Amino acid sequence: LTAQAASALRESEPMVRYEEYADIDWNNLGFGLTRTDYMYKAKCTLDNNFEQGQVTDYGNVELSPAAGVLNYGQGIFEGTKAFRGEDGRIFLFRPDQNAIRMQIGAERMCMQSPSIQQFVDAVKQTTIANKRWIPPPGKGSLYLRPLLIGTGPTLGLSPAPEYTFLVYASPVGNYFKEGTAPLNLYVNNEFHRATRGGAGGVKSITNYAPVIKAMLKAKEQGYSDVLYLDSVHKKYIEEVSSCNIFLVKGNVISTPATVGTILEGITRKSIIDIARDLGYKVEERLVAIDELMEADEVFTTGTAVSVASVGSVTYNDQRLEYKTGDESVSQKLYKTLVGIQLGKIEDKYNWVVEI
Ligand code: COI
Repeated sequence: LTAQAASALRESEPMVRYEEYADIDWNNLGFGLTRTDYMYKAKCTLDNNFEQGQVTDYGNVELSPAAGVLNYGQGIFEGTKAFRGEDGRIFLFRPDQNAIRMQIGAERMCMQSPSIQQFVDAVKQTTIANKRWIPPPGKGSLYLRPLLIGTGPTLGLSPAPEYTFLVYASPVGNYFKEGTAPLNLYVNNEFHRATRGGAGGVKSITNYAPVIKAMLKAKEQGYSDVLYLDSVHKKYIEEVSSCNIFLVKGNVISTPATVGTILEGITRKSIIDIARDLGYKVEERLVAIDELMEADEVFTTGTAVSVASVGSVTYNDQRLEYKTGDESVSQKLYKTLVGIQLGKIEDKYNWVVEI
């Protein structure tokens, strides 16, 4: 326990905060927000590095009505998970990669960013302080949401004069309401998620609200989510609202290359490494929508989503169906990833950080 987290815990009510598990129904976690005990907070100005942050009680954030994030969307976020292994050990999965991605995103959005060390420490401290909210092994994970937002006021369009780095946490289970059942995706050719030269390659908050409309429409029609096409040719697949996409054909796994319009997913790149080590050929390239007709399997990856099998993709009124289930490639990849995350499979990559 770091000194800061320990002092935050001492100041709190020990009877409540030291219990091993919070009193919630661990069997029915979805991806809703559960209020936890603590969050991390640090500030900086445009010209200075971040101050040393602190774990504080979880609570609302007060903002100027002219805050850069509220007026011009100057904000980026991350998602990472803490897992409880069967032996009680707590693991984070590649938090340094989230830190690096936040720095790249901050540069794109003209924001100050925390150092890699500060980011990783903040995630560790938030996890430890909220330990009782980490689900029992196999029931889910503690989702950590690092946020970097322009909190200083700015009326004209310019970088905000002050930034806040926050990390909050919530226990989560499956991302989709389908649980672990295969997803049914709908290809929307009218709305696009990102365009060349835009900010689709970084985790800007501005990439997410614009896809809600297409996503809700697809859900109303019974689909799980939307698969977006590129905005220029309307021909190449890009990603799903909240996750990256992969196709399997024989021994070859293909995924769209990250050409600035596609999020550089940490689960995406972990799965690429795992798949190659399991003997698959993995290609990162332009993947035409027509290739969906030939694919054996389709699956999605993301921190929130993990690895999710796709049972069908509907494109131009044609429903294409794919292999799913225990024998599928996506399940093999999923089991390997989760095995590493839970400390059950040897972590030869050094991805897992025990805290
Ligand atoms: C994640 O997978 O961590 C994300 O940030 C996606 C979000 C829409 C839940």
